[in-house]
Amino acid sequence: MCFHPIFITHTASAPPKNNGQALYLIGLMLRMSDLRLHNSKSLPTELIFPFSWVESSEEPKTGELGFFEGALKAFDGERWIAFDLADTLKGIRPSPKGFASEPLVKALGMIKHKPARVIDATCGTGKDSLQIWGYGNKILAFERHPMVYALLWDALRRVAIPNFELRNADASCELFNSDDVVYFDPMFEHVEKKKSLARKEMQLFKNAVGADTDQSEVLERLLKSGCGRVVVKRPIKLESHPKPNHSIEGKTVKYDVYLPLLG
Ligand SMILES: C[S@@+](CC[C@H](N)C(=O)[O-])C[C@H]1O[C@@H](n2cnc3c(N)ncnc32)[C@H](O)[C@@H]1O
Repeated sequence: MCFHPIFITHTASAPPKNNGQALYLIGLMLRMSDLRLHNSKSLPTELIFPFSWVESSEEPKTGELGFFEGALKAFDGERWIAFDLADTLKGIRPSPKGFASEPLVKALGMIKHKPARVIDATCGTGKDSLQIWGYGNKILAFERHPMVYALLWDALRRVAIPNFELRNADASCELFNSDDVVYFDPMFEHVEKKKSLARKEMQLFKNAVGADTDQSEVLERLLKSGCGRVVVKRPIKLESHPKPNHSIEGKTVKYDVYLPLLG
C-alpha cells in the first residue's frame, strides 16, 4: 500500500467520510498535530509554509518544530536543529583519485552516461542528494516524513539549488522513466552507524523518525517504477536482499545496483 502525506493541501476543516480510505486520512490528520510550531511569533509575515501546523507554547517535545533566528528548526530532545545546505555543500569534496573512482559515481552508472535525472527516494538531510547533484545531475528528491520535509523545505528556501526539486511524498508510489536512476538509502533498524549517528542530524532521525521498517516493500515498488536502475545504499556487512545485479563497495557502505528493465 502506498502512503501519501496529504497534510500539505489538507486543512483540517471537515473530517473525511468514514470509508476504508477515510480511516487513513484521519490518521494523517492526527499526524498534522505532530507539526507543532514553537515561537511562531517570530515568523516573517511574508513567509508562507506549504504545510499546516498547530501553535504551541508548551515545552517542546522531540521532533517538534520551532522558528528561531530566521530558520525552521526541529527539537531533538536537547537542542534545536536546522538543516544547513550551504554547510553540507562545503563538506562535499571530490575524491582525490578523481570523479570516476568514486563508488557512488560508478553505482549510478555515470561512467558510461549521465542519467536524465537522479530520483533520491530518501532525501533525509539532503546530504547524499547534494553529493549526487554535485556530480552534475538533475535531482528529484522525495521525503515522506512531515518534520523532515519541513526542515528540507526551509533549508531550500534559504539556499536555492538549481535543478533540484523536492516533493513531500512516498517515492515508491510514483512512476519514473527508463533513463532515470533511483537512489534509495533507508534507515536500517539494527545496524547503527556510530560515525554517522554522531552527526547531530542523525540523532534527530534516530529519535524522531526511526527505522524505515517498510523498506522491503518500498524497494519492491521502486523496482517496478519504470526506471532503468535502482541503487540501494546498505551497510557493508548487511546481506543484500533481493540479490542485486552487481554491487560497488566503499569503505563502510556498499551500493547495490539493480537493473530492473533487464528482466
Ligand atoms: C537514512 S535517511 C536518508 C539519509 C539521506 N540519504 C541523507 O543523506 O541524509 C532515510 C530518510 O528517507 C525517508 N524515507 C524513507 N522511505 C521513504 C519513501 N518511500 N519515500 C520518501 N521518503 C522516504 C525517511 O523519512 C528518512 O528521512
